[in-house]
Amino acid sequence: GAPVEVDVAGMQPGQMQTVEWRGKPVWILKRSPEMVESLKKTEGELADPNSERTPDALTPEYARNPHRSIEPEFLVAVGICSHLGCSPTSKFAEGAQPNLPDNWAGGFLCPCHGSTFDLAGRVFKNKPAPDNLEVPRHMFVGDKLIIGK
Ligand code: FES
Repeated sequence: GAPVEVDVAGMQPGQMQTVEWRGKPVWILKRSPEMVESLKKTEGELADPNSERTPDALTPEYARNPHRSIEPEFLVAVGICSHLGCSPTSKFAEGAQPNLPDNWAGGFLCPCHGSTFDLAGRVFKNKPAPDNLEVPRHMFVGDKLIIGK
């Protein structure tokens, strides 16, 4: 599929947008400094914090870091659960569902079987999802994000 170009210049911290690439939803989350900081707190609770499982399939080399991206403030991830392909819900974003668990620190929750992911798309331990969310190949050119290149 052709690369998708997204203008990210106007995005506010904490804002998320979804674009379609190769028929899949790709999330672009501009993380606030607090969100970036939260990635240190989740580290001990994750199944694969350094994306060492199936790295070539799920995480390009430049995203094998705690924030799983090129720019710490930007998460770019395919919004499809690595378990059976449902679409996880985000807690922080506009339109988040009011019936999400209160005691959940935030990130992404898959409604199908309860897998949870942090704000870098890293899966928590002891969940049905075997892997982190896929990070598609991406690059930044000025204020544009190019997905799939
Ligand atoms: Fe997401 Fe099963 S499809 S937890």
